[in-house]
Amino acid sequence: MVLRSGPVAATGLVGGWALAGALFIAGCGPSPSPGKAAAPAAGPSPSTNAAAARANVDAARLLAADVDQQNWLTHGRTYSEQRFSPLKSIDESNVFRLGLAWYYDLGTTRGVEATPLVVDGVMYTTSAWSIVYALDAKTGKELWVYDPKVPKRWGQYACCDVVNRGVAVWGGKVYVGTLDGRLDAIDAATGKLVWEKLTVDQSLPYTITGAPRVVNGKVVIGNGGAEYGVRGYVTAYDAATGDQVWRFYTVPGDPAKGFETKELEMAAKTWHGEWWKGGGGGTPWDALVFDPELDLLYIGTGNGAPWAREIRSPGGGDNLFLSSIVAVNADTGAYVWHYQETPGEAWDYTATQSLVLATLELDGRERRVIMHAPKNGFFYVLDRATGELLSAEKFVPVNWASRVDMKTGRPVEVPETVYHEKSVMVLPGPLGAHSWNPMAYSPLTGLVYIPAHSSGYPYSTDPLFEHVEGRPNLGMNPNGGPPLNAQDPIISTNMAALIAWDPRAAKEVWRIDYLSPGSGGVLATASNLLVEGLVDGRFVIYRATDGKLLWQMPVQTGVMGGPISYSVDGDQYIAVSAGWGGINSLVGVRPQGGAPLAQGRVLAFKLGGTVTLPPVPPPAPLDPPPPLTASADTVARGSFVYGQHCAICHGVGAVSGGSTPDLRHMSSATHAEFDSIVLGGSRADRGMVSFSDVVTPADAEAVHAYLIKRARDERGPQSPPTPPTP
Ligand code: HEC
Repeated sequence: MVLRSGPVAATGLVGGWALAGALFIAGCGPSPSPGKAAAPAAGPSPSTNAAAARANVDAARLLAADVDQQNWLTHGRTYSEQRFSPLKSIDESNVFRLGLAWYYDLGTTRGVEATPLVVDGVMYTTSAWSIVYALDAKTGKELWVYDPKVPKRWGQYACCDVVNRGVAVWGGKVYVGTLDGRLDAIDAATGKLVWEKLTVDQSLPYTITGAPRVVNGKVVIGNGGAEYGVRGYVTAYDAATGDQVWRFYTVPGDPAKGFETKELEMAAKTWHGEWWKGGGGGTPWDALVFDPELDLLYIGTGNGAPWAREIRSPGGGDNLFLSSIVAVNADTGAYVWHYQETPGEAWDYTATQSLVLATLELDGRERRVIMHAPKNGFFYVLDRATGELLSAEKFVPVNWASRVDMKTGRPVEVPETVYHEKSVMVLPGPLGAHSWNPMAYSPLTGLVYIPAHSSGYPYSTDPLFEHVEGRPNLGMNPNGGPPLNAQDPIISTNMAALIAWDPRAAKEVWRIDYLSPGSGGVLATASNLLVEGLVDGRFVIYRATDGKLLWQMPVQTGVMGGPISYSVDGDQYIAVSAGWGGINSLVGVRPQGGAPLAQGRVLAFKLGGTVTLPPVPPPAPLDPPPPLTASADTVARGSFVYGQHCAICHGVGAVSGGSTPDLRHMSSATHAEFDSIVLGGSRADRGMVSFSDVVTPADAEAVHAYLIKRARDERGPQSPPTPPTP
């Protein structure tokens, strides 16, 4: 248990990414209004097309997914995960007639990150808490809902919201990884559980948020949790029976227990100290991409646990296989090659972002490549047979490395960004240059479209760090950050954009700048369209060749997930699972410019669609905040403790991004219950666990005082008078 008092940081903002989010906000102005709100209208029409919910997908069909134009059979549409649809009915000449065909309310204010799948007229998608939906893809009619009943207390282990990125389908079954680490196979016709496997040790803070993939009759799934201290791995299960086939660990475990493979023994030589006690990390929580030509599965691995290199592996070392692409044999899980993007990773630079496979002509030679735009800010092109590095160039402002040395394949690190107890501003920060929001590649334009952003973050090692079981264990110094200063030259480099990148020339071709980080995944189509949902609540279509805005519609929420396209009965649809949330929302980035709701919805558009969204209800009236009776010192202490333990879910400065309660808006009844909620755990079954192991009663009182201060600051003259400070 670590309870410290000490000099109160000028900001009191220390909750890992929370500060990164705050720094981004400090460097961003308001975004322009997306247009006027949609008018009220009728909801989805009842289904006329009662398609059989069968998920009739086998190995041959998955291999031929590209020619199966009307469907979206696997996470990135095909095994190459290019997110390119060959459908062309919706094009530049008629896109102005695009309208909402149907919508389906997911009934959540938490983040929605799924890419839906569509098989023969049925859509399978997921929402927060790993809940799975089967919908009629033509009408939006609900066919079934499967709720794996994730215990809500598991929300405390989800660094970046209780999200899920979607399902896999195969052999009449739908597969979902649950937040608490289970892999469930669901009957696609009935929505009933067929089998369930526990993929993790639930005494440890593992999570699953990524979509499973089905590869040669096996369903593969990774996990997350490096922020809390676990050891990452990918497991393959027999898709029919659920029997485990293989497991690949991404970092070595305790040498005293023996290494699982000789590659892990080799990897262990790149670690020092007793790394296994903090788990080591490397959690592969998103990209798992299959290459049928080479029978390889590419795994994007996560960051180190804890972040601070000197705590994790005193004396340094590359710490294999952190922040790497690792190729394993898809049938056996045996290691084949790896490429480490950030040796000795120390900045939360996950390499888990979308891996896109393509064949490119480079220097007159056809090369089978992987393209990757990870958090560390470099765009990589690798030969996917061998892992040979073909190019690596910065796609956002980067200061941790000057370049990647093409001879050694290693980044040339800037020594000044190796932080110790003194804080150092590093670009990009832990929110990265690009996160899970999937990028797309159009073989027609030859461009990759990256939802990118970058903001600096002051890293410093916590000299008093002690691992606390089940809590964030970043090793970051809570007193180390410099005060927030929007004039800081690094903050002024904050950017967010959709970047069109030429992977052959290794350079940007065009970009569209945004004002907030976290915009959605991208879809490219054969009719030269580029589809993206934005933080500011717009769903937009650009021309893929040059980024010209062709169409947009306000959808009442920030959109993060990857859009898809499919067709039913000859009509082309564009659809997205929308709903603001995720890490940006938790740390307080709000959908700007007219997107007040964080309401999860599946939205499907087609030419001539006439459905409109219901009006946004007005905000509920707020109770006046209680009087502030605490001293300024107590409020300052409260600000510090809030930054340490609460900002990660309730937003920096107690300004919520919309997916969790804004603590400036607590009702009088909630104020009265404050201690029983925060220390007594009275809302643990709703995702707000007790903090009594890390927050003392006096500190809870100080946090409460700070929140009252923040509420009164916000409401200003409307607040009741405060009695004189004691
Ligand atoms: C892991 C995420 C997480 C963290 C960290 C967290 N909370 Fe919460 N908190 C939640 C969620 C989710 C809810 C909403 C629960 C519900 O539906 O009632 C909540 C609700 C609350 C509420 C009730 C608010 C209302 O208006 O109903 C209070 C008070 C609260 N949290 C205080 C805190 C304090 C103080 C801290 C830091 C010591 C903290 N929380 C840290 C997730 C978190």
